[in-house]
Amino acid sequence: MLTREQAAERIMVALDYPGTEQAEKLLKQLDGIPCYIKVGLQLFYAAGPSFVARLKERGYRVFLDVKMHDIPNTVRGGANSVTKLGVDMFNVHAAGGVRMMEAALEGADAALAGGAKRPTVIAVTQLTSTSREVLNEEIGIAGSTEEAVIRYAQLAKRAGLAGVVASPLEVRTVKAACGPAFQTVTPGIRPSGTDPGDQSRIMTPREALAQGADYMVIGRPITAAADPRAAIESIMEELIQG
Ligand code: C5P
Repeated sequence: MLTREQAAERIMVALDYPGTEQAEKLLKQLDGIPCYIKVGLQLFYAAGPSFVARLKERGYRVFLDVKMHDIPNTVRGGANSVTKLGVDMFNVHAAGGVRMMEAALEGADAALAGGAKRPTVIAVTQLTSTSREVLNEEIGIAGSTEEAVIRYAQLAKRAGLAGVVASPLEVRTVKAACGPAFQTVTPGIRPSGTDPGDQSRIMTPREALAQGADYMVIGRPITAAADPRAAIESIMEELIQG
């Protein structure tokens, strides 16, 4: 059974906002709840590294969801910069290959000498927005999306990464292929009775926890709720009841 604090730590609130004003408003509403904060492309490109640094100064744990995908040398440099910023977790695309993922770890490690803390580096496997048709006919990868996810997860593990972003429906197969300690960070979480929006392969927080999900990325069920604090409290309660 999870404590209140452990339940909060499993939740990564997605700050999908165009700027700091909206983000700060939500942070104020969630004040004192020790959840993880996920900063993605929209907010990072708008608010920049200084906003992330400010989050760290205020004690938040930060997952920087920037999905790096470039040549190994460039990813090494990017990883070095975000590690110096103090993020607790960041991600790269497994499609960049083992060498690129290893370069991310090297870049992160190179920042440790300057006193930075080692971040958890995870991989994006196959984006959940990719249908089998797109995978096979546009991207040119044969087989099912699940097969692609497992292959990418195994590549990430081979490179030494700590885990992957995965749909809650893929958690069991990823853990079976890569071991129970290989972490899964799952978006597509919808408490029962909330709007699925554009997410299709969804689970409730309790179901995702039962599958073995390590972290749950939750955006709109909290950020678009009439009372975000009540929304996260109720998700935490659901996890505590487990
Ligand atoms: O609002 P919602 O709960 O759907 O937000 C989910 C978050 O997780 C968003 O920030 C989205 O970018 C991210 N995400 C996702 N599916 C993926 C990877 C990331 O929904 N496969």
